[in-house]
Amino acid sequence: MSARTWTAVDDYIVSSLFDADPALDAVLAANREQGLPAIDVSAAQGKLLSLLVRIRGARKVLEIGTLGGYSTIWMARGLPADGRVVTLELEPHHAKVARSNFERTGVSDKVDLRLGPALQSLAALVSENAGPFDLIFIDADKPNNPNYLSWAMRLSRSGTVIVCDNVIRGGAVLKDDGRDENVVGARAAFSFIGGEKRLDGTAIQTVGAKGYDGFAIAIVD
Ligand code: SAH
Ligand code: DHB
Ligand code: MG
Repeated sequence: MSARTWTAVDDYIVSSLFDADPALDAVLAANREQGLPAIDVSAAQGKLLSLLVRIRGARKVLEIGTLGGYSTIWMARGLPADGRVVTLELEPHHAKVARSNFERTGVSDKVDLRLGPALQSLAALVSENAGPFDLIFIDADKPNNPNYLSWAMRLSRSGTVIVCDNVIRGGAVLKDDGRDENVVGARAAFSFIGGEKRLDGTAIQTVGAKGYDGFAIAIVD
């Protein structure tokens, strides 16, 4: 089975299970038109994030790495009326595109986008006592995964769900030669989760429209 099959099956999942959603299609179109890299979560993954928000009964969600807000919108849709997503983004252009996408999909009132280096925004969230968050999605610069996981612990409570994207990287996660900083970041996520006794986690390998990758998921004890 090839990457073409994986993409076709992703299309099948979406067409069988999801309602047509022109506003969400327009988000991806805007992201490509505005030159953002095509590294948004897939629709099937976005729906999974939305379901995890609902399964957790989350009211407060934290996302590290907004891009054009596609994953943010999926998570916002899983929240109750008084729920909020705080999402952190470094690039002003990405943030601008994301804000217009939040308007387009009617989730602006549920989203607090903070522009700047995530490590600074995370420190600010801790000092303003913004936590604890019920679900935290880590999907930014991969070398900082261990730093983001440490801040995530400080912004968590018992029961917080932490999801970390892109931890398989086509199987390159097995290469420990240190040559690819994204792989180093993926391995660092495994070391962190495996070594932190307050976290109980696993990782799921995925194929689909984004190729072969996967995410780690953990719960705070
Ligand atoms: N979660 C998004 C994809 C995020 S792509 C989605 O699925 O739709 C990763 C994003 O992290 C990019 O927009 C990039 O600009 C941002 N990023 C990279 N380094 C960062 C940093 N130090 N602080 C905050 N955001 C960062
Ligand atoms: C990359 C980053 C992502 O967040 C992703 O989901 C896929 C690829 C990347 O930088 O290569
Ligand atoms: Mg990602």
